[in-house]
Amino acid sequence: MKPLPGLFSRREILKKLGLSAAAVGLASLGGARAQAADSGTASPGPSAPPAPRGPYTLPELGYPYEALEPVIDAQTMEIHHSKHHQAYISNANRALAAYPDLGRMSPEELLQNMRRVPGSIAVAVRNNVGGHANHALFWDILTPGGPKEARGALASRINADFGNRDTFLREIGEAAGARFGSGWAWLVAYNKKLSVISTANQDSPLMDGYVPLLGIDVWEHAYYLKYQNRRSEYVGAVMSVVNWDKVGERFAAAMR
Ligand SMILES: [Fe+2]
Repeated sequence: MKPLPGLFSRREILKKLGLSAAAVGLASLGGARAQAADSGTASPGPSAPPAPRGPYTLPELGYPYEALEPVIDAQTMEIHHSKHHQAYISNANRALAAYPDLGRMSPEELLQNMRRVPGSIAVAVRNNVGGHANHALFWDILTPGGPKEARGALASRINADFGNRDTFLREIGEAAGARFGSGWAWLVAYNKKLSVISTANQDSPLMDGYVPLLGIDVWEHAYYLKYQNRRSEYVGAVMSVVNWDKVGERFAAAMR
């Protein structure tokens, strides 16, 4: 579609930023680009040695990049998964290269035990192992199929802890909208009760003892190509493609 006078097409925006569409994967548009560098997700540069191949590897998405169209476009999914998520994994593998004992822990276990992480790699682990775990959860709860609303014990718990489903949806929407800059909005379990929280950057709820059940990525790289500055529209849309069976499985595990 031809852009309106005075507005730039997506291709022109990328050109002005000196980026090809594919290159956006290593540094998302706008302010998130600088933030990515701050948080350890930027490319380490052409002279850096290749990242170790482990301990982490990029998990299969399990469904095609176009599976969530039109809510999340295929290009965003491909860049998000194959570039951004991969960058977190590569940077996490670099950080953990000298600490094989830490690398043998699952990402979730490591995030729950940040006190064991040496100070020299603590920021890199927080940002990149957090980024890995957060995105792995995100892909899972967006697996196509499943019910579009919570059912059974999870629905009952939502009603008990939020009053009703609409209040929960309003709270998570507000948490996503209120998160300044980049981060996540979450439905979490803590002491077998549910609540909504948000975290900055790639901080994981696991670092504070919460069990994440559902996460909404509100980094611009998650929505900018399709929704530009309309974060609330993206949040409402992405909530419509949540697979509540997957959230329910996480809820059941957290309640054990
Ligand atoms: Fe993301």
